[in-house]
Amino acid sequence: MNSYSSSSDTTKALLNWYTTHRRALPWRESNDPYRVWISEIILQQTRIEQGIPYYYKILNRFPDVQSMANAPLDELLKLWQGLGYYSRARNMHFAACQIVNEYEGLFPSSYENLIGLKGIGEYTAAAISSISFGEAKAVVDGNVFRFLSRFFGLQTPINTTEGKKQFTQIAQKLIDPIHPGDYNQAIMDFGSIQCTPSGPDCQTCPFSVNCFAYSQGVVQKYPYKLPAKEKQDRYFLYFCITDGISTWIQQRKNRDIWQDLWEFPLVEETSPIQPEKHFINKYLNADSDTKVLIGKPTHVKHVLSHRVIHATFLPIRIDTSSIVSGSLQKIPLTELNKFAIPRLIERYLTNHAPFNLIL
Ligand code: ADE
Repeated sequence: MNSYSSSSDTTKALLNWYTTHRRALPWRESNDPYRVWISEIILQQTRIEQGIPYYYKILNRFPDVQSMANAPLDELLKLWQGLGYYSRARNMHFAACQIVNEYEGLFPSSYENLIGLKGIGEYTAAAISSISFGEAKAVVDGNVFRFLSRFFGLQTPINTTEGKKQFTQIAQKLIDPIHPGDYNQAIMDFGSIQCTPSGPDCQTCPFSVNCFAYSQGVVQKYPYKLPAKEKQDRYFLYFCITDGISTWIQQRKNRDIWQDLWEFPLVEETSPIQPEKHFINKYLNADSDTKVLIGKPTHVKHVLSHRVIHATFLPIRIDTSSIVSGSLQKIPLTELNKFAIPRLIERYLTNHAPFNLIL
């Protein structure tokens, strides 16, 4: 294993590498904490190329923290649509209100205060405090884990408390106290451009001479991880009901996936569901006169970080006099695109036409 005593050389080499390879990203044009915050929250679970248009969209609509706090959460959720992990948007809106109410709209400038905001954990607090305020707090993300584990030959699994502690300590020793923001962004850029997960460019790497994993020919083995838990299967049967003019939707309110997003009425189970008529009757006051036409079901599998959703969408056409459960919200079909909906439903609606059934 390499010794950490050469850490300042490693740091210098990272900063040197960064001078020539740094990516020109829109949030790097200034150190404004509001912009850095938006970018860091987006990038937590999103690739940079996918995140950039969302960064612009959010910044255009909410140029400052006040405008975000003053807007209804629904508006941010709608802008977020397609990015997934919506708790990021919910927390962001909550934190914007915290900044306005507790800090008079001025972004808190220390790691300690940043970490008190909703949705800001160790990573994000370190990123904002170092990039915007010059505080020497090292970030540890997937890129940092990968580079440090390979370079130093660290085998502690990164998805354990011990691993997180060890890597954080090492990153904290490496950080340049004078340029902490550049150091943090350098190590992340290095991980995503050069020391990549599957095809690292070791031939041109300035660290390969001292890299433990490279010297052993085991770069691909790093970082070490404990096997992930099996994903939980969930089964959703959605009813896409229409009378030709309207549809019926509801807002998810439980503390569960997609909280506050809108969806079609559904039955949820942990085992496969047969699309039987009695489920539909729960929503329709279907007496013998009611005309109900059930369309062909469509199955869509949607993989999330901890779950696999097996969704079945069932188009249902009723006549205009039928009564649909009062707890559902009736909306014109033309208004559906104004509501924030999960990506699974968005995908289904893009590829299918459930409302074209004719009685
Ligand atoms: N990934 C997330 N935030 C980043 C940043 N500020 N620089 C480089 N990569 C990142």
